[in-house]
Amino acid sequence: MSAEIPPRDAYGRTMATGDLFLPFRLDGKRALITGAGGGIGRALVALFAAAGAEVSGADREASLMDGLDLAHRLAFDLADGAAVDAAFAELEAAGAAPDVLVSNAGFTRGETLGAVNRAVWDKELAINLTGAFNVAAPVVEGMARRGGGSVVFIASVNALAHYGNPAYSAAKAGLIAYAKAIAVERGAQGVRANVVCPGSVRTRAWDHRLKEAPDLLSHVLPHYPLGRLVTPEEVARVALFLASDAASGVTGAVLPVDAGLTAGNLRFVKDVIERE
Ligand SMILES: NC(=O)c1ccc[n+]([C@@H]2O[C@H](COP(=O)([O-])OP(=O)(O)OC[C@H]3O[C@@H](n4cnc5c(N)ncnc54)[C@H](O)[C@@H]3O)[C@@H](O)[C@H]2O)c1
Repeated sequence: MSAEIPPRDAYGRTMATGDLFLPFRLDGKRALITGAGGGIGRALVALFAAAGAEVSGADREASLMDGLDLAHRLAFDLADGAAVDAAFAELEAAGAAPDVLVSNAGFTRGETLGAVNRAVWDKELAINLTGAFNVAAPVVEGMARRGGGSVVFIASVNALAHYGNPAYSAAKAGLIAYAKAIAVERGAQGVRANVVCPGSVRTRAWDHRLKEAPDLLSHVLPHYPLGRLVTPEEVARVALFLASDAASGVTGAVLPVDAGLTAGNLRFVKDVIERE
């Protein structure tokens, strides 16, 4: 799927990856990206490095980050607070505490309410909300002590309206509240926190669904006003803007990168209003 969608520049023009237009810079900054080995994570690592940052990555296992050019590799399960604390203490001891955090790791399998029992709820909240807190809390306190920093949470359109995955959605909505708490309570120390809400992105997060229904994406596209999914690179570019000094006046904001999904209901307009 991603091979069919060439990357676009800031003005929506298609272009080769090597020519990517990069108006936002992170020179001299240290960035930590969780879920670095995933589809969006890899795009974040590449883009943030291209923007001048020294990039470190975190993922469940170090091998998931194979092939990435990273200053430091942290391996932990986000849901394991003690493991996160230990890894972060090591990073700080190495003098590599981040100026920029992209809290990007995420996971869901509970597709509808019928599939959400207490175990599923606990697991999806533990990874997507508590896990994000486990990393962000010590990072934000360090940023506040040093006088500034920027956190970007990768949430989802599921945080804004219901598109399935109830427990995951509750967790992603929780990230918005948490980001606003950081924005309000740590703004005086120069810490900014913002949220990106991607629509569907064809990463391996979709593999399990496509295995069950190989033609699924043809059912997804008619919901998207731009007629396509966003790419990992498009999500990464918005995260880069929010992380960079170009967004120095932006904190507590929630920005969908969703090919127009949350702008309205395209299927409703077509099926009910236009009746084509
Ligand atoms: N792909 C989409 O359609 C989509 C849409 C909206 C939001 N998102 C969000 O974007 C982010 C990145 O997703 P992606 O599409 O790149 O998926 P992905 O599965 O390719 O990457 C997710 C990464 O998070 C890591 N991770 C998962 N559970 C973890 C845990 N317990 N501890 C540590 N690391 C863990 C995984 O190992 C993986 O590297 C996620 O937060 C996801 O919820 C994705």
